[in-house]
Amino acid sequence: MQDTHRLNTFFNDCQARVERTLERALPAAEQPPTRLHQAMRYAVLGGGKRVRPTLAYAGAKALDLAPEQVDAGAAAVELIHGYSLIHDDLPAMDDDDLRRGRPSCHKAFDEATAILAGDALQTLAFSVLAQNGIPGVDDSARLQMIAALARASGSIGMAGGQALDLESEGSQLDLVMLENIHIHKTGALIRASVQMAVLACPELEPAKADALDHYAKCIGLAFQIQDDLLDVEGDTDVIGKQSGADAAHEKATYPSLMGIGPAHEAANDLVTDALDSLSSFGEGADPLRWIASYIVSRDR
Ligand code: IPE
Ligand code: IPE
Ligand code: MG
Ligand code: MG
Ligand code: MG
Repeated sequence: MQDTHRLNTFFNDCQARVERTLERALPAAEQPPTRLHQAMRYAVLGGGKRVRPTLAYAGAKALDLAPEQVDAGAAAVELIHGYSLIHDDLPAMDDDDLRRGRPSCHKAFDEATAILAGDALQTLAFSVLAQNGIPGVDDSARLQMIAALARASGSIGMAGGQALDLESEGSQLDLVMLENIHIHKTGALIRASVQMAVLACPELEPAKADALDHYAKCIGLAFQIQDDLLDVEGDTDVIGKQSGADAAHEKATYPSLMGIGPAHEAANDLVTDALDSLSSFGEGADPLRWIASYIVSRDR
């Protein structure tokens, strides 16, 4: 079987698995306040590649863990991601009307509902991890998952990166500053996804934990470089969001700073670095390898 085919199968299984957890975690659409719950479900269940949960499951596979050990972590990261997208699209931020091929949450509902849906998804993420025990994961490891997700989501992680991204609109950045934005706004949650698996395995040798973290750092940055490239090279119909939006907002991006070709090269170099860091892992880490390559070849 070819790697792309094997990745597709792996992706589909992970998507189905995390969607079951998300479906269970999200309040029913009929439960009051219904408009808020509908908006939360709209944002989370309406498509999405589920790259972050898939990374958590791939990390689990590399460490020979059962998928049950990362179910909660995978869903929690995706809930934070869903919240971050709702807020990212708001008029006060990127002002995007299209997300995943449909009206953004604030367009389908209204701004106030979208803000609250983001807020509620954020707290739901933490309650998914905090509320119940996780099979095969002791409570001190579970506490570390909560702390890692909090760090990755907050002002020294995703939210901090978003603040820098918005602050930098219209200004000329150097590569170090741009890399810093990307590492935080996008890299932090991708790193946390792999961390969910690492933390479920407290007996893991530190060198292996570091190797997985280095892998995640590299592909986290590569992921946002590819996102920047798709904004320039992709079609709105395929990417499911308005192409050209970054230039319209004078966002600093890899292609705007270094050009399209060098941006592709930078992303590819990061994937090579990520793959190198998996050299001490056997076949169990293949899904991590496939995902690394997928991240820079994806068209959406
Ligand atoms: C989009 O993330 C926002 C970024 C951090 C670049 P994804 O490309 O993972 O979005 P979905 O979840 O598949 O829609
Ligand atoms: C978003 O980056 C990062 C987030 C934390 C949501 P972008 O603003 O480039 O994401 P898209 O292109 O709107 O999905
Ligand atoms: Mg943005
Ligand atoms: Mg955006
Ligand atoms: Mg983008």
